[in-house]
Amino acid sequence: MSTSTVYAETGEFAVNDLAAGSEGTPDQKRFTPVQRPELAYTPEVAAATAEAYEKVKDFIPAIEWAALAPLVFAINKLKKERNAVILAHNYMTPDIFHGVADIVGDSLQLAKEAAKTEAEVIVQCGVHFMAETSKILSPEKTILIPDMNAGCSLAESITGEDVRKLREDNPGVPIITYVNTSADVKAECDICCTSSNAVQVVEAMGTDKVLLIPDQYLAANVNNQTDVDVLTYAGSCEVHERFTAEELREYRDIDPDVKIIAHPECPPEVVAEADFAGSTSHMIDWVKDNSPEKVMMITECSMADNVAASTPGVNYIRPCNLCPHMKRITLTKILDCLVDMSGEVIVDEGVADRARAAVERMINLKN
Ligand code: 13P
Ligand code: SF4
Repeated sequence: MSTSTVYAETGEFAVNDLAAGSEGTPDQKRFTPVQRPELAYTPEVAAATAEAYEKVKDFIPAIEWAALAPLVFAINKLKKERNAVILAHNYMTPDIFHGVADIVGDSLQLAKEAAKTEAEVIVQCGVHFMAETSKILSPEKTILIPDMNAGCSLAESITGEDVRKLREDNPGVPIITYVNTSADVKAECDICCTSSNAVQVVEAMGTDKVLLIPDQYLAANVNNQTDVDVLTYAGSCEVHERFTAEELREYRDIDPDVKIIAHPECPPEVVAEADFAGSTSHMIDWVKDNSPEKVMMITECSMADNVAASTPGVNYIRPCNLCPHMKRITLTKILDCLVDMSGEVIVDEGVADRARAAVERMINLKN
């Protein structure tokens, strides 16, 4: 069913002025699937969101799009008025990824973008540590997160106090923090890394031994790719640790032609079964570069949906795990935070200054 078919089925709708808070006239027929009368699926909305819908139509039924499109339209209108930019992680749902995001990417790309954007407001569609990283890099900007409770099992596994103890126990060993940590933790570390540059950062330390915290699996995977001795901590990603090497072998037994690509937050025995491992953006690039007939992305569920639009002909097999934290971010919450300018992320200035040194050291590393 096409977008225009839905419009025809749902009748004539009021064109609303959300910014002015207009509720329209009583005789205007309204389609209010999200129980917000100012959000109607009008011909204007259908036309303005048609391009985005083309990219998501395989995952979002037309009737559902009729409910989402007014939110997409309202967000895109309001973000201009607020001089806001929407940074969205690759794990956002396709309606966010293709509908309202200005910049999409992995953790490193989003951090770099936060450092250079001209916008006054950043709406961080991702989890809390990502919004903190944006605030650390752009302290003069207003950083909003649509849901303050969008956390991360890795960020919650370690505190600044834990890092101070690690430093005492490992004198002289550089401490590298994965970007999936709080500002407090970053402030205690020598440098930051992401899944796309972890090996490079470890080797840039120029030591025989480093501590890479808090993801034990990322550290183990990096350890397998370098001569540097990589010590670590007991943290893990609750999404990626659930994949097993056994299930990957079973998938290959069923279909020997399938290509399997995995995120390095997966345990090393899972990565060993994969044809490629890399950050979320590196996984997307791998699919674009290799155009496999069939591919399985061993990571969060939205990845395959998001990349499918730009990789026609690739068949995605989807044994994925949902990140409950990433999935807290919805179009309704994005609109709410832009309307109210709510969900502002604040980082103590002293902590931010010390954390910035760790993040900037990473960003400034030569490739
Ligand atoms: P990247 O996008 O940097 O690969 O990170 C994945 C992740 O789990 C972020 O929370
Ligand atoms: Fe954290 Fe894992 Fe969710 Fe990423 S996918 S935000 S690492 S819990």
